[in-house]
Order: sequence, then C-alpha cells, then structure tokens
Amino acid sequence: MAKICLCLTGKTLERNLDLLAKYRKYVDVAELRVDCLDPDERFLIRRFPEQAGVPVILTIRRKEEGGYFSGGEGSRISLFSKGLAFAEADRRKNFAYVDLEEDLNVPSLEEAARTFGTRIIRSFHNNKGVDDNLVERMKKLRHVGDEIVKAAVFPQNLADVLRIYRAAGETRDFDKVLLGMGHYGTNTRILADKLGSYLSFVSAKDEPEAVLAAPGQLDPKELVEIYRFRKLNPSTILFGIVGFPLHATSSPSFFNQVYTEENINAVYVPFPADSLESFMELAKELGIKGASVTVPYKEKILPYLAVQSEKVWALEACNTIVASPEGWMGYNTDCRGFSDSLLNFTGEKDLRGQRVTIIGAGGAARAVAAEVYRLKGKALVLNRTVVRAKRLAMAYKFAWGSADAEGAELMKRYNSIVIQTTSVGMEPAPGEDPLPDYQFNGKEKVMDLIYKPHETLFLKRAVEAGCAVQNGYDMLIRQAIYQYLFFMGTEFPSGLMNRIRMS
Ligand code: ATR
Repeated sequence: MAKICLCLTGKTLERNLDLLAKYRKYVDVAELRVDCLDPDERFLIRRFPEQAGVPVILTIRRKEEGGYFSGGEGSRISLFSKGLAFAEADRRKNFAYVDLEEDLNVPSLEEAARTFGTRIIRSFHNNKGVDDNLVERMKKLRHVGDEIVKAAVFPQNLADVLRIYRAAGETRDFDKVLLGMGHYGTNTRILADKLGSYLSFVSAKDEPEAVLAAPGQLDPKELVEIYRFRKLNPSTILFGIVGFPLHATSSPSFFNQVYTEENINAVYVPFPADSLESFMELAKELGIKGASVTVPYKEKILPYLAVQSEKVWALEACNTIVASPEGWMGYNTDCRGFSDSLLNFTGEKDLRGQRVTIIGAGGAARAVAAEVYRLKGKALVLNRTVVRAKRLAMAYKFAWGSADAEGAELMKRYNSIVIQTTSVGMEPAPGEDPLPDYQFNGKEKVMDLIYKPHETLFLKRAVEAGCAVQNGYDMLIRQAIYQYLFFMGTEFPSGLMNRIRMS
C-alpha cells in the first residue's frame, strides 16, 4: 500500500507543524522541505522529526530541480549534516528518510544516515520531460541496494504518461517512488499503488500562502476523500474521463462519491489527453473498464469503437465507452441527460411550439439537436464554422447560420429557448462569449451546457437581461446517472443522489 506524504513548504517549522496537525489524519509521512524555510529556521531542523510525530523525509531541493535552495552545495551539505547529526537511539527522533540527489556523493552523509536508520531516497528530477532511458536510469540510481529510488519526471503529453506506467512495470523489484509531475501526471499520483510507488506526495493547496511543492500535486483531502486513495488495491476497477484540456470536470467527484457510498471497489480518474490514440493505448495498458469522453473527442472516438449504440450511430457522437470482450462499446448519454434537464428547467413535456437556438455544431450540439427534434421543437443552429452548422441543421430540417452579428439577427426568430453547447466561456477562459452580438430581451430561457464556471459570461448577460437560466451542471449529473448504468450494468441506486455532495 503506497503511503501518503505531505510536503511541508511553510516558511517556519511552527507553520509546518500546524499544517501537519491539520492534515495528520490523511497522511503517513511528511517531507520537510528545508529549502522553503526562512534561513534562520534552517538551523533548527534537527528537532523536527520528534515534534512532528510522523516519519519525516529531510529534503533540501535545489532550484534546478524545482526547489528553492539557492545557496551553494557546501552550505546544502552542511544543512544535511545538521539534520542527520546527534542521532538518537530512538529512531522516531531522527529523520526517517533523507532525499539525496543522484549526483550528490557525500559518503559521510550516507554513513550518518545508515548508522542511525535514516533511509536514503536517491532521487532525480526531470522538469522538462520523461527520459528516454527512464527504466535504465532508475535501475542505475541506487548507490547501495537498500536505497529507495525516486524518479520525478514531467510528462509533456499522454504518450509520456504511458511510458511512466510501462517503466513502473519494469521496475517492480526494488522500492521506488515514480511519479509524473504536472497536469498530465496527476493520475500517476492517484494511481501510485498501481505503479508500485512507495509513496505519493501531496500539498496543502488550499492553505493561505501555500507553496506548491511540485506541479500536479493534489490536496491530501482530495486524494483521500475524492480519489479514495486508501481504498485502492490491485482489484480496484478503473474508470476515467478523457478530454482536453480537461481542466474543468466534476465527473471524478461524482463517480468517486458514488463508489464510496455504494462500497464499490472502483476509482474514476481524469486523463487529460493531447492524443486519443495515446489514451486508447493507456486504457489497454491499465485495463480501464469504462470512460467518459468529453471535448474534443466525442466524434474522434468513433473509429475506436467495436460496437456503437443506435444513438451513437445516428449522432456520430459518443460520450461513454465501456470495455467488452469484443472491444469498446460506445454510448451517448448526453441526449437523455440534456433533454431531461431541459424539460425540468422549462417545466414542459416537450418542445412543441418552441423556437430554439442551438449555439455550436460539435458533438454536444448534435445530441442537443437530436433531442430538440425528438421533442418536436423548431431550431436554428449557429456555429463559428457555418458548414458544420448547415450539416447538422439539414439532418433535422432546422435553419442554420453563423455565430456572429448575422446569426444574432436570425436568432431573434428562434429565441424562446437558447442552448449554448460550445466550450467558449469555460474555465480556464471564462471571459469569452460565444455570441457577443446577441442582445437578450429577457424572455428567453437560456441553458449553457458549461458548468465551470457556475455562471458563464453568456449566462451572466442573460441573467442581467432578466432571462431564466440554467447551467450544465444538472445535465452533467443526469447524463452521469445514465453512464453509471453502462459502466456498472445496474440502475443508479434510488435515493443515492441525496447523499452526494458536489462542488
Ligand atoms: P464537443 O464534442 O464537446 O461538442 P467539438 O466537436 O470539438 O466538441 O465541438 C466544439 C464546438 O465548440 C464547435 O461548435 C466549435 O465550433 P467550430 O465547429 O467552428 O470549431 C465550438 N468552438 C470551440 N472553440 C470555439 C471558439 N474559440 N470560438 C467559437 N466556437 C468554438
């Protein structure tokens, strides 16, 4: 079972002790990042393990490896010596581990560590990528056989992430910490146990003046309570979400809470993917059982499907894949998720007599258009790329236009309901508006499928004009409930929704 290590990056030892006390219940080990301490505090580190009351790693990270220590090697070595000096027979009063970099060859430090039971973590950091010879480098890293190898690499794409998982498989015969930094690498921190990592590092991210110890780290609470880190074992079933850039998704929070509530041995992990092909390979490597598919892959996923549901076939858009002996099965839960949510919002049974504008013509828009048609609404499709709007609209005998002033003019005749389906205005670019030329008259019912931010600029304008509005959160949950059925093969338990808290 991988341990959880809280990186302590406070400026004072007292602050670090406070942080540790606050997160104690989530962590097994703490890493004292001496490089983050104020200079005066650095001389007082020797007593820290005793005060901490948990095994502590002594780390003094240099700037070139992403740390904050800017002094020379001489002063760094003398700090290490201070930390390891006056070792006590009661090991709990000594540092349990010391992180010595690959190129740090100071036999006296190693000897001091070994004599008093401080285990050496022999580390290297690649802040620019994933080494081509990662496995070899890891194998050669240990100076002596009892050292823990630590390789922190920075995947630049999902193919790099795949190489990390493969390297993990080839380095099972010694203790190691192998992790991918950054947004792409966060899943390696969640799945540390799968990688055979000795520990996973977390940072108290929500704290005031928090200094992130390394990019891509999760908060301790997030790792334990959302990602169920303590419950993961070799039989845990893996689910996930694939998309790009995948900065804003509530699906992991939803599914992981469901697994916790229902006592299901599964975890749902985000996989930001610059390439769908890499994700499909990774999914095979990790044995992923099912995944949600989001922007921009709802169409691009089609060639990878062995079986398509009728809806996927008709819409050429798929947002749910499930592994089967025949290959990937593809489903679309956006359709029903959307229409259930829209009808609930409008309080209607169908869209007879309603004139609807659909902004966008991508995968999500196709699900929306199909449902508007099924519910007997009349619609106008507006899109930046007009040919895509035309292609979608013609399938249902809808009108079409461009997402500009001309389209905004047409929209005046299709404005009982407005549905925004593009990713424009989504975090991390909430200042964007998919149709600034349209002025709301206050009577439109406006739905934006985005739910992060809670209120897009587009919805804000609608609210200011007096419109009734709804964001995409309700749809997300409704479609996820349908997804649950495909993932698990059983109905979503009734009453469970009342027990799920979402942010
Ligand atoms: P999804 O499958 O999630 O709908 P998609 O198929 O890539 O994703 O579709 C994205 C939609 O958002 C499209 O309507 C796209 O417009 P284009 O067809 O012109 O690409 C729209 N979109 C994305 N980024 C946009 C931007 N910056 N400005 C305007 N429209 C944008």
